Amino acid sequence: MITTKTRQQIERMHSAGKYLAELLALLKETAVPGITTARLNEIAEGWLVRKKLYSPFKGYRGYPSSICVSVNEQVVHGIPGQKLIKNGDIVSIDAGVVFDGYVADAAITIPVGEVSEQLQKLISITNRSLYYGISQMVEGNRLYDITYAIQSYTESYGYSLVKEFCGHGVGRKMHEDPQVPNCGHRPNTGPRLRSGWVLAIEPMVNMGSAGVKIESDGWTVVTNDGKPSAHFEHTVAITPNGPLILTAL
Ligand code: MF3
Ligand code: CO
Repeated sequence: MITTKTRQQIERMHSAGKYLAELLALLKETAVPGITTARLNEIAEGWLVRKKLYSPFKGYRGYPSSICVSVNEQVVHGIPGQKLIKNGDIVSIDAGVVFDGYVADAAITIPVGEVSEQLQKLISITNRSLYYGISQMVEGNRLYDITYAIQSYTESYGYSLVKEFCGHGVGRKMHEDPQVPNCGHRPNTGPRLRSGWVLAIEPMVNMGSAGVKIESDGWTVVTNDGKPSAHFEHTVAITPNGPLILTAL
C-alpha cells in the first residue's frame, strides 16, 4: 500500500531532509585522508545528539551504526570501523534523520583528495542519473519511468546498475511501498505516480559488472569484480508543481 502524504507531513519530512543535508555536508568536509570510517560515524552521532535527532539506521534489523560508509568497491551498507580513508578513494556515505516522527534518507559519494578522472566520472554520472530519475517524478508519469531514466542514462556510459537493492517509499518508516528499482523495467509501465508520494531514489552504479555479494559481516555489499561503485540518494516528494527534493541544502 502506497501512502499519500499531506502537505504538513511533507513539510515535516522537509525539515528532516534539511537537517540530513546539513549532516551530509559536515561529513563531506570530514572525510579526509587518514580518518577512519568509525570516526565519521562518531561525528554523525555527536551531531545527531546535539540536534536531538535520531538515525533510522541504528538498530534497523540489527544494524549497529548511525550511518553507512562504503569505500571504493564497497557498494552500500558499509559498517563504520577501523578502515582508513586514503587519498584517491571514493567514499559513499548514506545517512538518515528522523524528525518529528518522519524519516529522510540520502546518500552521497565523495572523492577524497586527488581522485582519478575515471572515478570522478563515475561519481558525476551516478549523481546525474539520480537527477534524471527525479525529473520523471511528475504526476501522471509511471513508476518505472524513473527506473528507465536512471538505467538508460547510466548504461549509455557502459556502467552497470546494482539490481539487488532499490529505492523505496519513505515516511514514518524508512522503507515503505513502493520499491523503486534502478533497472529492469520498460518506460511507461508500473503504477501511476501521485502527488503526495514521497520516494527515496538511490542508484547504485558499478564501474564494472553488475554482480555484488554481501561480506561476512552480513551487511557490507561489495562488487564481485572488485571494481568501484558509487551511490547517490535523495528523498523526493511528488507535488502538483513537480518533484520537490526534501534532502537538498
Ligand atoms: N539508505 C539505505 C536504504 O535506503 C540505508 C539503510 S540500511 C541500514 O536502504 F540498515 F543501515 F539502515
Ligand atoms: Co534508502
